[in-house]
Amino acid sequence: MAQKIIIDTDPGQDDAVAILLALASPELEVLGITTVAGNVPLDLTQLNARKIIELAGRPDIPVFAGCDRPLSRDLVTAEHVHGKTGLDGIALPDPSVPLQDRHAVDFIIDTLRAQDPGTVTLVPIGPLTNIAQAFRRAPDIVARVQQIVLMGGAYFEVGNITPAAEFNIYVDPEAAAEVFDADVPLVVLPLDVTHTALTSREWVDAMAALPGRCGPAVAGWTDFFERFDKEKYGSLGAPLHDPCTIAWLLRPDMFTGRHINVQIETEGRWTTGMTVADWWRVTDRAPNALFLRQVDHDALFDLLAERIARLP
Ligand code: BDR
Ligand code: CA
Repeated sequence: MAQKIIIDTDPGQDDAVAILLALASPELEVLGITTVAGNVPLDLTQLNARKIIELAGRPDIPVFAGCDRPLSRDLVTAEHVHGKTGLDGIALPDPSVPLQDRHAVDFIIDTLRAQDPGTVTLVPIGPLTNIAQAFRRAPDIVARVQQIVLMGGAYFEVGNITPAAEFNIYVDPEAAAEVFDADVPLVVLPLDVTHTALTSREWVDAMAALPGRCGPAVAGWTDFFERFDKEKYGSLGAPLHDPCTIAWLLRPDMFTGRHINVQIETEGRWTTGMTVADWWRVTDRAPNALFLRQVDHDALFDLLAERIARLP
């Protein structure tokens, strides 16, 4: 039976590739896509999510709009990385599939209550606001979550939005702290992994040459997205951060990491949003996360290519 997942997202070109990878994978059943403010404001993230499911030929996947700002801070966005629309790189038509009426937080709560306990995995690939709100409003659902597989944080690689913090955690550190404290099985794909998940020219060219529309879309997005990291880090390609979550669900054997304690800094003078990972186990704080550190790059990109080629 397919693994049931809810993708909580702020698309974002790399979010878009993650959604395509999930929709191309029969091992996964995407129950819904919940959107949150992050890379760009909520009105754009929900619109982008609807464009992506139509591109994938899956208008049956319900898309919900969630929180339009962090729990207790002003929203920080990342147009400097993702462009004005959040999904710059190719022009997609306005979607005809409507936004669902229900709030994303209600959908998360209702779904976890309706499905058997321990059968639904949450995959947050943006700020953790919707997930924290769902846990605040319905504490009974926390024990029903199978696991959370999220993209966020960094330890050895430190920050991308500040010297200490990764974007998803930085935008809503209070939400992240609540989720990391929730006592739910947690799998973390930090920058330590995702900054090595870099596209190559050959891979992007192969995507562009695929006969359907999704491959060329992935090529257009990654071409746009890579210019930022090339300038900033001198890296060779675009980091496919968010697809690493879906790839971990499909092929956990491609990744290595440690079960460790991870705390979220919410009060730092310079370090707000830092994921303080006890990699060396120098405290007696109990492990609360599987914190991944490495991925088999070639296996990851082979998987992505094989799956994207299945899409229209
Ligand atoms: C994360 O921030 C966003 O810009 C990306 O979509 C990814 O989820 C990387 O720090
Ligand atoms: Ca994202």
